[in-house]
Amino acid sequence: MTSVTVRVPAKVNLQLSVGPRRDDGYHDLVNVFHAVSLFDEVTAWDAPRQDTAGPGVTASGEAGSVDGSPDGSVSVAVEGESAARVPLDGGNLAVKAAVALAARAGRRPDVRLRIRKSIPVAGGMAGGSADAAAALVACDALWGLGSPREELMEIAAELGSDVPFALFGGTAVGTGRGEKLTRVPVAGRFHWVFALAEGGLSTAEVYGECDRLREATGEQVGWPSASDDLMAALAIGDAKALGAVLSNDLQPAALLLCRPLARTLAAGREHGALGALVSGSGPTCAFLAESEDHATTLATALEAAGVCRTAVTASGPVPGAEIV
Ligand code: C5P
Repeated sequence: MTSVTVRVPAKVNLQLSVGPRRDDGYHDLVNVFHAVSLFDEVTAWDAPRQDTAGPGVTASGEAGSVDGSPDGSVSVAVEGESAARVPLDGGNLAVKAAVALAARAGRRPDVRLRIRKSIPVAGGMAGGSADAAAALVACDALWGLGSPREELMEIAAELGSDVPFALFGGTAVGTGRGEKLTRVPVAGRFHWVFALAEGGLSTAEVYGECDRLREATGEQVGWPSASDDLMAALAIGDAKALGAVLSNDLQPAALLLCRPLARTLAAGREHGALGALVSGSGPTCAFLAESEDHATTLATALEAAGVCRTAVTASGPVPGAEIV
């Protein structure tokens, strides 16, 4: 095989309940993930052995070559939505994924990656995590490793809290720091609008702001659990009931760090969204629509109101990373 292409979805959190901060700096979560039809595509090609691979070299801001390990190299090119803001060095999560998989397999990580982005960068939709998951699946196939899913899930969890879900797809409850997944039964399909903002928010900063807010208000943080009403709404495919119970503990922190988002959420509600919330750590805002048609009119209305950079429609749940 000389190349493999993998399509991977974005996620929105239907419930993001943030528990106490742990000793390792992470927070225990109850995180109801929902994969939506906004996809990145990662292609992996065989790359010739590069004995002279040096530290991160970039070409015309679009492609970079990084030293994957002492005895191999990974190059990466990124195209599409906010591509210029994706790191092209060893900090790129897809590169880290290729390097981690090669190390586990005891081989050189010689590979050329191309990422075609539709998922907003630093947008709270796990775009970087999605690219890492896609790179794992693509390199595994390219190198003919046939790794069991559980092994890919393990590597995924080491790469980031949201990476396992990008492999898993569908709708799932994530516990621990979000990486321990249990599938949630869902009837039918839900229609969404995502309002993309200018710029991004750092996940770590938003968690930090959430901690500061809680300290300032003296809020007692309990052990979170998955909402029964949310599970019931998903099980019967009731969009109205789902819209009423969407929740995100990171939202107050994201709204403080990015104040215009309050107007974006209000505009979505004014135009009949069944539910409106910040997606993950933001700044993307997610709106649940009544139907596919309603999603289209809602997206147009949000753009016309000037409360976002652009608005895109999508539906969920959809499968996780898969070869196309
Ligand atoms: O795991 P990941 O690298 O995606 O997490 C990014 C950052 O988000 C972490 O460094 C941490 O600050 C924060 N985080 C957290 N608790 C979690 C997941 C992420 O505090 N459960």
